[in-house]
Amino acid sequence: MSDTHVNEGASTSAETELLNLRHPLERALTELFEKRAQAIGIPLHLATVFQSNKGADFQCNGALASAKALKRSPRDIAQLWIDQFSPEERSLFSALDIAGPGFINISLSDAVLAQRSNLALADDRLLCDTVKQPKKIFIDFGGYNVAKQLHIGHLRSTIIGETLRRVFVFLGEEVIGDVHLGDWGTQMGMLIEAVREEQPHLPYFNESHKGEYPVESPISLADMNRLYPLASTRSKEDPKVRAQASEATAKLQAGHRGYTALWRHFVNLSIAEIKRDIAPFGVHFDLWHGESHAQPEITPMVESLIEQGEAQESDGALIIPLLNAKGEEIVPLMLRKSDGGSTYHTSDLATISMRAKEQAEEMLYVVDARQEMHFKQVFQAAHRVGIVSESAHLEHIKFGTINGEDGRPFKTRSGGTIKLREVVEMAIEAAQRRLNEGEMQSQTLKGANEETRAAVAQSVAVAAIKFGDLSNHRASDYILRLEDFCAFEGKTGPYLLYAAVRIKSILTKADERGIKRSTIQLRGGADRALALELSKLPTVLTQVRAKKTPHLLCEYLFNVSQSFSSFYQACNIVREEDLAQQGAWLSLVSLCLETLNLGLELLGIEVPERM
Ligand code: ARG
Repeated sequence: MSDTHVNEGASTSAETELLNLRHPLERALTELFEKRAQAIGIPLHLATVFQSNKGADFQCNGALASAKALKRSPRDIAQLWIDQFSPEERSLFSALDIAGPGFINISLSDAVLAQRSNLALADDRLLCDTVKQPKKIFIDFGGYNVAKQLHIGHLRSTIIGETLRRVFVFLGEEVIGDVHLGDWGTQMGMLIEAVREEQPHLPYFNESHKGEYPVESPISLADMNRLYPLASTRSKEDPKVRAQASEATAKLQAGHRGYTALWRHFVNLSIAEIKRDIAPFGVHFDLWHGESHAQPEITPMVESLIEQGEAQESDGALIIPLLNAKGEEIVPLMLRKSDGGSTYHTSDLATISMRAKEQAEEMLYVVDARQEMHFKQVFQAAHRVGIVSESAHLEHIKFGTINGEDGRPFKTRSGGTIKLREVVEMAIEAAQRRLNEGEMQSQTLKGANEETRAAVAQSVAVAAIKFGDLSNHRASDYILRLEDFCAFEGKTGPYLLYAAVRIKSILTKADERGIKRSTIQLRGGADRALALELSKLPTVLTQVRAKKTPHLLCEYLFNVSQSFSSFYQACNIVREEDLAQQGAWLSLVSLCLETLNLGLELLGIEVPERM
């Protein structure tokens, strides 16, 4: 916010002393109400002030809740409460009234809101505090599988996981994003067997091979992508093929040298392809670990569980018994299969054990809701047998399914699974159509070269996909409508990009005209409404953090853009004759742009230079 000329000294004025304007406003107001509550015997927890949309900025309902205990009418209590405020304190408010049966309606004065806006503008973090006690948090997302190409089913974990990661980092948590590749299951055995069948002469299959194995992979990515689907189908159809795959998997898991060397090629090829596929999404993983990473942990973990009597033999397998809420036994957790192989459950338990040893306080799993049962079992077992301490927070951040128009999981026309890459391509085409369509392009993309156009189309497409996804409550299913997601109007990613690009150009043009920015002051109309909306950012981020729900941020940014439009229509900056007001509005525009930019960045949405 270096490009603004605001008066930082404002923070020492009377308003800031009475009301800590650096805090989220509802918290600052709650503090004020708490102080007055004490004097008249209202319990502190009833003094909470929260945002209101009923004709006031904020409201407090504590008078109603304390009526019984105080044996007075709620309206009387509300009156008494309000009467505790000194004239000086009252000057903070444009309204402090009793409504209905005893609600207290609270609206801030324009001066207070303006002052808060100036503080925000002077602060790089827009007054969003970092958490007081940062926690070490693992976010397990992506969850791609080696040998299986990324498909539409990987979209949500990627997008939601990355947004949560960004929000948590911004709020000062110690976050570790881990991709947790599926690199250790039966699909590995299937692929090993498929390669053996095609190229049995390779040294990996020669049991008497004593030397090194090839450094270069004799299998290409194309080979792998061709062989895996075949092997998978055959394995489903033919029990013999399935048994062989199982056996190969067990050998790999037991450390077979040749298989391990071959498997490493698969992993490397896959990781390179995954990185290419997710590149448009701007995702960051701190760790590229996989299920295999937890394997060394399995034996000691299982042995100690046997020793503690927590793991039990059952038909040659090893299980951990589990209970439902009523204390009845439910399907147990399979720790070790009768053939000695480990399971998806075992892998996750061992991973939890390792993360716990690294002092993780939270482990969040951004995974499809259809794995709910899996995580219930794993978390219950982990807590019950003491793999994690009671205080460690394990949570399945579940998300719904991406459906097609028919309301069923999205498929290609021929009924196949659609690859992630194809989703991006389809979105780019839809974005290109939109860009060609509108007046937008005639003004802003005119004369741009092919390269710029392609880059803008990709930004629009990715913004469309991400916002289309994130704007739904994560637990809900939604229908993938790329044409709609790419629209420049309505609640879409491109609309927000367009808003940000437009605001930026308003600022540039005003600068060119020589309009000087100045301390924000408000005239009490649409400018005030915008300032109030902008002040809500810290609260929104706290809510996203607490509930792990990015849609709240989407909703908020959309509201900000709407408030901006109303403001820009109502307040004619260029024609304004009061130069102080003109400069003030320009600073408000700048704060609005900062807010949108930060919000979009947290959503992982990049704003192009022009559109
Ligand atoms: N690879 C898994 C799958 O495709 C998802 C992994 C999720 N993370 C975990 N720790 N289980 O279903």
